[in-house]
Amino acid sequence: MSEVFHSFGKMLYGGDYNPEQWLDHPEILEQDIALMKEAHINVVSLGIFSWSALEPEEGRYDFSWMEERINTLYENGISVFLATPSGSRPRWMAEKYPEVLRVDARGQRARYGERHNHCYTSPVYRQKVRQMNMELAKRFGSHPGVIAWHISNEYGGECHCPLCQAEFRSWLKKKYGTIENLNRSWYTAFWGHAYQDFDQVEGPSPLGDSSVHALNLDWKRFVTDRTVDFMKHEIQALRDAGSDKPATTNMMYYYDGLNYHKFADAVDFVSWDNYPVWHKGPETETAMDTGMYHDIMRSIQKKPFYLMESCPAATNWQSVSKVKRPGLLEAASLQAVAHGSDSVQYFQIRQSRGSSEKFHGAVIDHYGGNDTRVFGEVRQTGADLEKLRDLAGSSVRAQAALIYDWENRWAMEDAAGPRNQNLFYKETVEKSYYAFRKAGLNVDVIDMEQSLEDYQVLAVPMVYMFRVGFEEKLRSFVERGGTLFMTYWSGIVDDTDLCFLGGSPHGLMDVLGLRHEELDALYDGETNRAVPVADNPLGLTRSYSCEHFCDLVKVTDAKPLFVYGDDFYAGQPALTCHSWGRGQAYYICADMEQSFYDDVYGKVLEQQKIRPILPGVKLPEGVEVTSRESDTTVYIFLQNFGREEVQLELPEELEPVLGGDKKRLPSFGTLVLERKVK
Ligand code: GAL
Repeated sequence: MSEVFHSFGKMLYGGDYNPEQWLDHPEILEQDIALMKEAHINVVSLGIFSWSALEPEEGRYDFSWMEERINTLYENGISVFLATPSGSRPRWMAEKYPEVLRVDARGQRARYGERHNHCYTSPVYRQKVRQMNMELAKRFGSHPGVIAWHISNEYGGECHCPLCQAEFRSWLKKKYGTIENLNRSWYTAFWGHAYQDFDQVEGPSPLGDSSVHALNLDWKRFVTDRTVDFMKHEIQALRDAGSDKPATTNMMYYYDGLNYHKFADAVDFVSWDNYPVWHKGPETETAMDTGMYHDIMRSIQKKPFYLMESCPAATNWQSVSKVKRPGLLEAASLQAVAHGSDSVQYFQIRQSRGSSEKFHGAVIDHYGGNDTRVFGEVRQTGADLEKLRDLAGSSVRAQAALIYDWENRWAMEDAAGPRNQNLFYKETVEKSYYAFRKAGLNVDVIDMEQSLEDYQVLAVPMVYMFRVGFEEKLRSFVERGGTLFMTYWSGIVDDTDLCFLGGSPHGLMDVLGLRHEELDALYDGETNRAVPVADNPLGLTRSYSCEHFCDLVKVTDAKPLFVYGDDFYAGQPALTCHSWGRGQAYYICADMEQSFYDDVYGKVLEQQKIRPILPGVKLPEGVEVTSRESDTTVYIFLQNFGREEVQLELPEELEPVLGGDKKRLPSFGTLVLERKVK
């Protein structure tokens, strides 16, 4: 891994390019170059699924077509993210070495087919991948046109073969040392499932154990570690063959199977594939949802990330393939940049002619011309990015942070109770996120292992599991003057899913001034109300609805600001506040409606004098504000995801970098302003 990755010195623009599908159409390959240049494209991801074209028979390599393409692209000012092709292996390999094929949780080995389905442990697969990656690095690793490595494609899934099971056992031995320690941590006394030896342990399976929660959790952690280990093995092969170009792998939207934070130290930069379901609901909501995921991705390394894939038109795998309304492509692409991306990339440059993605939108469609609506918008977006060139490498400074933690999600969703039909974890995190953004703040969305040092305000919704030391971090955050918002169902179990004894939220009952006693789960459609306490210090006067969960707490010295309106617990606290050290700790007892979060956070941020991106400016509903900073300049993005044009009143000193009119922002319009700081 190269020590520090700064930036490529410009905004990158392009996408996945699969010329191996068109090698018998030289005129099309030529036309691709002309159209890419016209669209301002300056990077393509090449070779993602090219293994069979590069090694058609074992040991017989053909890199000629790739070399020809890389050279031609380079001569035309287009750089390459060169892929390692492990995401899809050739047929001959599976036939000759069946161990490269994955085994499922029922013990059944897959046949050859599809993609992303190899065993991460198989020594044969690891050796073949190493050979291939070294060949690529030797040939192209120092080519000036190759600027980075695109490692595999969307790693995912798991393998239960005997080789992986053996690895799992060594992973457990390393973690627990003795079988007694594992038994204690996994609580195997329950149903008499104690192990006598590590050799007896198997991964979770519907044919065996699937209810030992700590086993399930450790298996998921193991799968992440195995995948990261495999990725490191891929990158090492490139390094051993002499290439030190930066490496990334493309991540997915809320992918459950991998804890992406564990990739932070292994990749030089983070990248991800973004396919929102636009126009299904209000675009303002889809934009908020997408914005939060951009922020999760940026927060993994707290550095610029790359938008590795997005769809220029309609996808073909969503249940309804809706086209993007005029202007939305530009707005959605620039939104990634607004949240810290140094690129906009598409899947894919030229639409495939056959097989399962033949109707997936692309920059160049089957018609093949430059006079389509989509191509026009792609070209426009490319021109925008050239204007935003100086933003490359600039960072996002967030005033507020929010915890979204993969391991917590795994543990909570597997926990059995208090609500098995949906916990609404993501939605609950989003409520805090939306409230921060509506208050005009940048937000980092981090996990429990990350530092809290940089923040003044922190929301920790549904942190059911406290990973080791988390309560100490929260305690010192509040002590040194931070404002903490914690919700119900927090601090319930430790990191092997053992319930804390002696009360919860574990280790913080003094900080919060209360103790959780019972959690009432509500049926779908059932609601309660949060009613303001007269003269509460936030000055809030209306009632709000809540659903799904109502925590019944025993207050020691916290102040109730809202109480429940209904049921036998009417009058008991629904929102509390407690001063601790130099800070404040709020406890939100129930799954409140969005406007509760908006109003409560809004008031608290105002009282704490947390400075928004545009102090004193009231932005119309549906307009997102974000900012990026370099050493000399603050860039402010205003994006209107609403369907109507809006009027703006902005400070004089802000100069437009993109979009000239500072007084009005059309539907799906973007305005980028700058303020010099030096
Ligand atoms: C991504 C994948 C691409 C392509 C795309 C279609 O998940 O990485 O190869 O299949 O989806 O939307």
